[in-house]
Amino acid sequence: RGKRAFIAGVADDNGYGWAIAKALAAAGAEILVGTWVPALNIFETSLRRGKFDESRKLPDGSLMEIVKVYPLDAVYDSPEDVPEDVKGNKRYAGSSNWTVKEVAESVKNDFGSIDILVHSLANGPEVTKPLLETSRRGYLAALSASSYSFVSLLQHFLPIMNPGGASISLTYIASERAIPGYGGGMSSAKAALESDTKVLAFEAGRKGKIRVNTISAGPLGSRAAKAIGFIEKMIEYSYVNAPLQKELLADEVGNTAAFLVSPLASAITGSTVYVDNGLNTMGLAV
Ligand code: NAI
Repeated sequence: RGKRAFIAGVADDNGYGWAIAKALAAAGAEILVGTWVPALNIFETSLRRGKFDESRKLPDGSLMEIVKVYPLDAVYDSPEDVPEDVKGNKRYAGSSNWTVKEVAESVKNDFGSIDILVHSLANGPEVTKPLLETSRRGYLAALSASSYSFVSLLQHFLPIMNPGGASISLTYIASERAIPGYGGGMSSAKAALESDTKVLAFEAGRKGKIRVNTISAGPLGSRAAKAIGFIEKMIEYSYVNAPLQKELLADEVGNTAAFLVSPLASAITGSTVYVDNGLNTMGLAV
């Protein structure tokens, strides 16, 4: 049987989640995705109308099949956690069962188990503010959406993950070096995510023989990154200063993810793996 993957954080064909889905599909995996509730409608409509067909193309010429799209808001673990204003919001009212616990239950009911869990989502409402100007609320929101969301997903999906399975998330070097402009507590959120990768690798390894790794990716002009505002500058900076002076393709991150969740990486867990044209190794911009 082929492997089954659940990829949280796909809402268009530009981001790392989409590229990871494609790399896993090309390797023969069955693809399920979790899409942020407010983005669900437009994603499903675009998918249905063939807007992504060009980017669904796999190396063998076939089109990536997304077996099922689940609405998801990874900021809420179960229905009791959802505040009234969100429940009543018309972008949410049209969908159901989108808290983490309910999505895991739905996947279990639909498919029984998964082998691969991908976390490719982040959100920091105050990302454009320096940390010195970030509110407590904004900081905690960044941690909730970008770090605890992974803890919660793994917590709820681990019971339906087949032993030998693996999970992966996406992080950014702003966790360990100061990157002015990556604010709002997003740098703190990535630091938490990387630390949690080690602790969860231990716990999920012992509990379910599941590996946990994170990819520290270089800059990509995704929808989320454009919201931060300086992504074009970061791409240019990387191009000028990295050991490999080439564009970083989302597919290169996708391929690394496919490797890390495959048996080829069966002894790798708890690691932060850089996929950034080597930029992290430089100590001096030249
Ligand atoms: P993206 O926009 O393709 O992906 C982010 C996704 O998160 C979106 O689909 C959005 O709808 C979803 N999302 C936001 N809040 C959510 C919530 N509460 N529940 C469920 N889904 C939610 O952008 P990108 O850049 O591909 O982001 C994927 C991951 O890659 C993120 O963790 C990001 O921090 C990381 N990353 C991105 C880099 C870049 O330069 N684009 C560099 C390094 C890491």
